[in-house]
Amino acid sequence: MSHQALWSGRFKEPLSEIALNFSSSIDLDKQLYEEDIAGSIAHVEMLAATHILTAAESRRIRTALKNIEKEIHSGKFKLTGEFEDVHLAIEQRLIQKVGAVGGKLHTGRSRNDQIALDERLYLRTAVKELSNLVTHLQRVLIYKAERYFGALMPGYTHLQRAQPIMLSHHLLAYVSMLERDFERLRDCLKRANKSPLGAAALAGTSFPIDRMKVAKKLHFDGIVENSIDAVSDRDYLLELIATCSIVMMHLSRFAEELVLWSTKEFGFAHISDSYTTGSSIMPQKKNPDMAELVRGKTGRVYGALMNLLTVMKALPLSYNRDMQEDKLPLFEAVGTTRQCLFIFSHILVHTKFDRVRMEEELRNDFLTATEIADYLVRKGMPFRDAHAITGKIVSYCIEHRMFLGNLDIDTLHTFSKSFEPDVFDYLLPHTSVEQKKSAGSTAPHEVKRQIVRWSRLLKARKA
Ligand code: ARG
Repeated sequence: MSHQALWSGRFKEPLSEIALNFSSSIDLDKQLYEEDIAGSIAHVEMLAATHILTAAESRRIRTALKNIEKEIHSGKFKLTGEFEDVHLAIEQRLIQKVGAVGGKLHTGRSRNDQIALDERLYLRTAVKELSNLVTHLQRVLIYKAERYFGALMPGYTHLQRAQPIMLSHHLLAYVSMLERDFERLRDCLKRANKSPLGAAALAGTSFPIDRMKVAKKLHFDGIVENSIDAVSDRDYLLELIATCSIVMMHLSRFAEELVLWSTKEFGFAHISDSYTTGSSIMPQKKNPDMAELVRGKTGRVYGALMNLLTVMKALPLSYNRDMQEDKLPLFEAVGTTRQCLFIFSHILVHTKFDRVRMEEELRNDFLTATEIADYLVRKGMPFRDAHAITGKIVSYCIEHRMFLGNLDIDTLHTFSKSFEPDVFDYLLPHTSVEQKKSAGSTAPHEVKRQIVRWSRLLKARKA
């Protein structure tokens, strides 16, 4: 049985059960009850401070709101489909508890600015949680980079073996990617941490409210100035979901590499049994399902972004009920990203990398071909000529079913007289890596420097 709606004055017929079921958002927005109550308490305190309500009225309302919060928490008051949304449910309960004075809470306020406030408060917590999870994953990566320092592996471009690199260097690339995610999260907050409350429905209010006071009480950096913008804007959610999408894109790339590296073909990584699953038919199988699921769940978050962008597209100002549809993409994106960041740290902690296997692959290939070209350049040859000669050497090796390491000096002389026996030193993967001179390269001293820098930075980072 539906309650008499709080807005029912101008209506002769009650809202049909079918329409209520269709339009109720409480199944989703009930997650915002703490934010909603915090906002109402700050609002009602301000109403007393500005003498719009008496101190006694304000106190009664606040006490009741705190009790309602406890009732919701304990399950005594259930936020169910008989209410249109979380705001009306709480207000109705308030009036039930304190009588007519409860009806004064909504003075100078509308659900339009109220929902925007709740969402901005929720966003603040979400950003904090996501940032902490990003930092944690970065720390796990640094731990692994230290643990496997010195291990070499083939680096790829086009998924073709390119040049030897340090595994730690590869892992550090993800630390940098996650750092940008961290910055993007913080950046979202800069614009989102403003209070929309006091915009009322769209035009502001004729009550002498103090918007800044409410903003300060709720630890906002200021107010969303334009009242029309305050109720019609959802950029703050779009920025957060877009950031979540990029986080997931990063995780999906890493997940893909773990999946690839766990194959027999690669054999570079061994995810622990506790983060893999078996097959119901093939007894020998060990599947990297958790990594696959992170890759797959990326679709949900991209979907959420597309969902909200589409909801907002071409909406006339200011508030439109369409905007109620923002909850699903918001919760979906934040929930999924949180879950995936969390499990990813666990997967990674429990993954072993196989140095022997990676280095084996380095020997049986042409990954140091660039070193031969660079060698000839150091002997005075233009790089393009050196590149062409090295290409011919590789082609010779392929034809004779051998690798660069199997060549002898006489054979090399048939390609160029500039070769001397020290060329063989440059063909070793570890020399190739050690030879690198540029900043940010895969040279061990550069990788070490990055590890030290990141460890310091991440240690100093507070939760
Ligand atoms: N449940 C609504 C939402 O989430 C709250 C705002 C409703 N405003 C209104 N005028 N119907 O968007």
